[in-house]
Formats: sequence, C-alpha cells, structure tokens
Amino acid sequence: MKIIVTGGAGFIGSNFIYYELKNYSDEIICLDKLTYAGNLETLADAFKNPNFKFIRADISDRKAIYKIFADEKPDVVINFAAESHVDRSIEDPELFLRTNIIGTSVLLDACKKFGIKRFHQVSTDEVYGDLPLDRPDLFFTEQTNLHTSSPYSASKASADLLVQAYQRTYKIPATISRCSNNYGAYHFPEKLIPLMIINALHDKKLPVYGTGENVRDWLYVEDHCAAIDLIVRRGKIGEVYNIGGHNERKNLDVVKTILKILGKSEDLIEFVTDRKGHDKRYAIDPTKIKNELGWTPQTNFDDGIKKTVTWYLENRAWWEKIISGEYKDYYAKMYDNR
Ligand code: NAD
Ligand code: DAU
Repeated sequence: MKIIVTGGAGFIGSNFIYYELKNYSDEIICLDKLTYAGNLETLADAFKNPNFKFIRADISDRKAIYKIFADEKPDVVINFAAESHVDRSIEDPELFLRTNIIGTSVLLDACKKFGIKRFHQVSTDEVYGDLPLDRPDLFFTEQTNLHTSSPYSASKASADLLVQAYQRTYKIPATISRCSNNYGAYHFPEKLIPLMIINALHDKKLPVYGTGENVRDWLYVEDHCAAIDLIVRRGKIGEVYNIGGHNERKNLDVVKTILKILGKSEDLIEFVTDRKGHDKRYAIDPTKIKNELGWTPQTNFDDGIKKTVTWYLENRAWWEKIISGEYKDYYAKMYDNR
C-alpha cells in the first residue's frame, strides 16, 4: 500500500510517519510545504528507511498536487497539513483559509480525479467550540454541533464540511477524526507545553494567558497516531471519530507540573493578557472509537509529561535551532509588552 501523509514534517504527522514505518512495510510519502512549522531534521531517521520518500509541495497548489497524484498513484491520503496555531490565526486568518480549506478541497479533488482507497482528514476538537468550566459533566461527542471560536477552528470546521460533502456527493471514501490537544516529541515551541519547558529551562517568564483556568484535554501524540492508524485501516467510511483520553488539566496546573519536574520556581509564572475569544474547556467523549475500534490511550498525563520533558532535555539541538531563527521575531511580536 502507498500512503501519502501531508504535513508529515510537522509535529503529529512526523510522529505518525514513525509509527507507520515501525509497524508496517507500506510505502510512505511525506508531502509537505515546509512552512515555519515543517522541519526535515525531524524526519532524519525516516530518510534512512527505503519505504520513505519526501516531496515538497503546497496542498493548495492544484497543479503540483495533481502531478504528484498522477505520478505516485497513492492508495491512501492522510491530511495532517494545516496552519495549526490559534494565536497565529488571530493575527493572520487568510493563510489559514488558504491552507486549511482550499488545500483540503484540492486534495479532495485530486482523490476524486485519480481515485483512492481512503482519504482521512485529521481534524480537531476545536470545531465543537468550547464547554463551560462549571459543567464537568459535559463532553464533546460526534453529535455535538460545530460551533467555532477562532479563524483556525472555523477553517478546520469548513474543511470537515467539505470532506463530508465530497463523501456524500462524489462517494470519496473518507473518514474524519477530531482529537484533543496533543503533546510529546517534536512539538513546535510556539505551543503551550514546549514553550513552557523551553522558557523554564532558560529561567524566562512563563506567560500564562488570563487566569490559567482554561482546561485542555491532553493526549500523548503516539496515542493519537495509533487511533488514526486504526481509523484508516478499520474505520467505517463516512464516519467521524472523536479521539481523547480524559486527561483534562487547567493550563496553570500543566505549567506548575512542568516547573515541578524541572525543579524550577513557580515565581517564573507571569499572567498575561488573555487570548482573544479564548475557548474555556475542551473535553472529548471517546466512547465511539473505544467501542467500535477498540482504541484506548496507553499513556496517562503524569507519565507522558515526564517523557516529554525528558525528550526536550535530550534533544536540545532540535529546538535550539528553531528558537534561534525567525521564531525570535514571532516571540517578540506575540509576548513583548503583552
Ligand atoms: P504543525 O503545525 O506542527 O505541522 C503542520 C505541518 O503542515 C508542517 O509540517 C507544515 O510545513 C505543513 N504545512 C502547512 N501548510 C501546508 C501546505 N499548504 N501544504 C503542505 N504542507 C503544509 O501541526 P500539528 O500540531 O502537527 O497538527 C497536524 C494536524 O493535526 C493539523 O491538521 C491540526 O489541525 C491537527 N490537530 C492538531 C492537534 C494538536 O494538538 N497539535 C490536535 C488535534 C488536531
Ligand atoms: O484541541 C486541539 C488543538 O490544540 C489543535 O487543534 C491545535 O492545532 C493546537 O494548537 C491546540 O490548540 P490550543 O490553542 O489549545 O493549544 P496551545 O498550545 O496554543 O494553547 C493551549 C492552552 O494554553 C490554551 O488555553 C492557551 C494557553 N496558552 C498558550 C500559550 C502558547 C497560554 O496560556 N500561554 C501561551 O503562551
């Protein structure tokens, strides 16, 4: 089987490529534009595997995508490629519409034109909006209405609607997964957990938005990869699967846990101006994927966060290179005088 993994030079896509190369002998093609978030160094070990190949391309470039499909004739396409950071979407929505919506539509058109066995859209729990902090009994199910808050989540929800429309109208054999917040190796330093680890290691202030009461439902990235693999191989065409492991934590508690693991003082915490439109709480009900596909997460948050901190300690070269480049300007723009 030949699988195209779009966005495979980013955080989750790269972890997925390693998961597939370890467990199967399928041919894997990573198709990635290499934006600021894409990093070929992340794939250094994958390049040693003869079943792996990399192609640089933009999913919204129709001509390039059609040529790749014509040349490679993939059986399966898994779309991880996206602009993924909510804060950047608040600053510059248009790029999110181009990659996340137009890019997905181009991939769907390519699937229609060239025929594929499976298309899987990697979506997010953010398409469901947020839940109130005082209703811990509420969870997102696959029946929860789409109700988005940021340009990022609106672009991901739009892509989901397109996937469902193509599945129904053109019988594209598609599935969608909506996962909660991931963490683990190769997570880009702009996101909460790596940002806090890296700042703490430099004894820099840890910028917690608002009061730090917002809740995220954390999933170790390898558990997400295992779930996507199951959906692609055994999931039912036309279905949506929520992915999450009931690991809800307040942001402030996540930050304090990181400081504790690193032996750093809580005085480093600094409360800063809140994110605009900040979603309060995400919480996934994973009953469907558990009952239908037998998926359950293998890593709880306490173990996963220790493994993640250790990974950042042991892979300084990977993130030091990132934070010494254009990331410096990004950080100054987003956090100086916040
Ligand atoms: P990431 O930002 O780390 O990686 C995105 C990758 O996509 C990068 O390699 C980038 O170069 C590539 N890319 C961006 N625009 C492209 C384009 N136009 N054409 C081709 N490649 C392009 O993102 P991530 O955190 O790994 O997220 C991957 C997917 O999972 C996204 O679709 C995201 O919405 C979804 N998701 C993420 C999380 C999370 O917690 N990170 C949770 C649920 C769902
Ligand atoms: O839920 C899935 C989503 O999780 C994915 O779809 C997104 O691609 C991914 O980026 C992530 O979105 P979040 O906005 O939840 O992740 P982020 O790491 O940006 O922020 C997590 C929480 O931490 C959020 O409540 C905002 C807060 N935060 C974030 C940063 C970067 C801070 O308090 N300080 C910060 O500096």
